[in-house]
Amino acid sequence: MSPTVNLAVIYYSSTGFSAEIAQEIASAGAKAGAEVRLLKTAELAPEAAIASNEAWAAHAAATAGVPVAPPDDVAWADAVIFGTPTRFGNVSAQLKQFMDTLGGLWAQGRLADKVYSGFVTSATTHGGQESTLLALYNSIHHFGGLIVSPGYTDPVKFVDGNPYGTSHVDGQGANPVGEATRDAARHQAERVVRIARALKSAPAAV
Ligand SMILES: Cc1cc2nc3c(=O)[nH]c(=O)nc-3n(C[C@H](O)[C@H](O)[C@H](O)COP(=O)(O)O)c2cc1C
Repeated sequence: MSPTVNLAVIYYSSTGFSAEIAQEIASAGAKAGAEVRLLKTAELAPEAAIASNEAWAAHAAATAGVPVAPPDDVAWADAVIFGTPTRFGNVSAQLKQFMDTLGGLWAQGRLADKVYSGFVTSATTHGGQESTLLALYNSIHHFGGLIVSPGYTDPVKFVDGNPYGTSHVDGQGANPVGEATRDAARHQAERVVRIARALKSAPAAV
């Protein structure tokens, strides 16, 4: 019998686009047979900044019940899929701050040999999606993690067109997450679970 994969989907989202992809990935991961934890990272922005943006305030209220990721959930996971909006072509401070709390696990070698992957959202088409995912993956190299990017491993990837990870362009908030992105998210989740399961099935080989 093949082992159950523990999948942590850990994301930051201000206005909800990254959160929608996180939910799609979490549900596809569960359908692929994984035990899934869907977790957000802690907010760092001041209350006044959140309150000044209607979409941000509404999303913060709507996701108040989503648990904030503790580092131990990364230790629990066989596979971690991180998600973030791009911030000037880089990972959001909120997700990066979470990653910076993983130093203790890193020092114990407990971040290594897991499967990692990432997804991103941006306002504009060439707004830094690839640089954000590559920046995210820099840290995975330091973890000793195994980056499982989607590449063009399924026809859906020729539609969303981002081999580094699922991505969405929100068009300054005007474009809801559509089927091309959802297809890519499902494919990414299935691929990550499948490869994590293969690794977990042969621990002596890792
Ligand atoms: C400080 C800041 C920097 C941003 N930088 C970029 C950027 O470099 N390129 C871009 O296309 N969008 C940028 N955006 C827009 C967000 O990345 C985009 O709206 C994203 O889809 C929001 O995702 P969310 O709804 O999950 O928060 C930025 C937004 C903020 C607040």
